[in-house]
Amino acid sequence: MSLLELDGVKVHFPVKKGILFDRTVGHVYAVDGVSLSVEAGQTYGLVGESGCGKTTLGRAVLRLVDITDGEVVLDGTDLAKLPEKEMRTFRRRLQMVFQDPLGSLNPRQNIESILSEGMAAHGIGANQDERREKIKEILAKVGLPTNALSRYPHEFSGGQRQRIGIARALVLEPDVIICDEPVSALDVSIQAQVINLLEELQESLGLTYLVIAHDLAVVRHISDVIGVMYLGSLVEEAPSDALYAEPKHPYTKALMSAVPVPDPEVEDRRERILLVGDLPSPANPPAGCRFHTRCPWKQDTLCATKRPELKDLGGGHKVACHFAAEIAAGEIARTSGEVVPAVREGVEDVDPEVVATSGSVAEASEDAAEAAEDEAETSEAPVPSPREEPAGGVEDSAENTSEAPASK
Ligand SMILES: Nc1ncnc2c1ncn2[C@@H]1O[C@H](COP(=O)(O)OP(=O)(O)OP(=O)(O)O)[C@@H](O)[C@H]1O
Ligand code: SF4
Ligand SMILES: [Mg+2]
Repeated sequence: MSLLELDGVKVHFPVKKGILFDRTVGHVYAVDGVSLSVEAGQTYGLVGESGCGKTTLGRAVLRLVDITDGEVVLDGTDLAKLPEKEMRTFRRRLQMVFQDPLGSLNPRQNIESILSEGMAAHGIGANQDERREKIKEILAKVGLPTNALSRYPHEFSGGQRQRIGIARALVLEPDVIICDEPVSALDVSIQAQVINLLEELQESLGLTYLVIAHDLAVVRHISDVIGVMYLGSLVEEAPSDALYAEPKHPYTKALMSAVPVPDPEVEDRRERILLVGDLPSPANPPAGCRFHTRCPWKQDTLCATKRPELKDLGGGHKVACHFAAEIAAGEIARTSGEVVPAVREGVEDVDPEVVATSGSVAEASEDAAEAAEDEAETSEAPVPSPREEPAGGVEDSAENTSEAPASK
């Protein structure tokens, strides 16, 4: 059995209306039936567009939001049904590292106070001296000096603050750490350091991670298994290498096609699949396959009427698409969308390390929308020139009526 198992997890937020009496007039289907397993000592990477439900899923695991349906099983215990009192003891075993390190640290508390607070609440350390010794040990592990103890969050750089956030999780000796966009608020150079730190800590302490990110390159580097989310559900899940070698779901294919490749020869030949349309609102998701409104391979009737299940196509490569096998075999052609050359001016000159840490889900969608807009404006040229930087953006589009939060 896996250390953490999610089975059919749903989080539906009620949409209320009314001044005197709140009436529920609908639901936001933020997470709508997610099943996944995280093995002890491994990293599960969860990627998807802004608003697809990644954070809500992470919060559901910690029971920070009400779980509408499904099971969250940690080490054999279903947390979804656990009384709140018992849940408190399990919270120590599940910790979260947040995207905004400064926002998640109380500016009025020094580092010793921030780190010892949770320890005292969970009965770790007989007294403050014992807790301080343990904190010193952990600070050394995350690469912070002992004199950090008496300092305040604003006295640290962004990368150091994220190290404090990681230390705060570690002092509680958790079984699983949920890292929600742990590096997206940091400079690219610092991102690599924090990711490397997470990997080193995993090796030395045997930690288990659920890493949430919109940056495909970050997730690839650190994950054993990757799950791709779209509108509250997983559309594809596979061992990291298999997913990058051959993405099988049309959504993943489009996302991957937007990620620059560090090999200039491959990069020269890379083609982009442009997705059309906006991300639908999770309050009113499309019937059938949720991706059918934007899918370049959409087939008549079935795609718009029947929701595909996540099925294992072999080797743990799971895909939620009625036509995944046919698309992989090249038996059905695209019915919409465009494929354009992906090479852009200057890409050859960019440091491959830097290229490898760029290319996010948000960027992928925005770039595709930008290129599509550019194409619409260029009546004579059917595809944008590979050397032209497309103008405009998804947020500028007058047709952008999606209620999902704006991409970062
Ligand atoms: N407390 C809430 N009440 C109502 N709707 C919510 C609540 N929290 C989140 N949502 C909605 O649920 C959907 C999923 O939000 P969530 O924050 O999980 O997305 P995300 O994938 O983490 O996005 P991002 O990449 O921007 O962080 C969004 O449409 C959001 O507006
Ligand atoms: S089920 Fe149909 S619409 Fe959905 S991803 Fe597959 S081909 Fe596209
Ligand atoms: Mg989020």
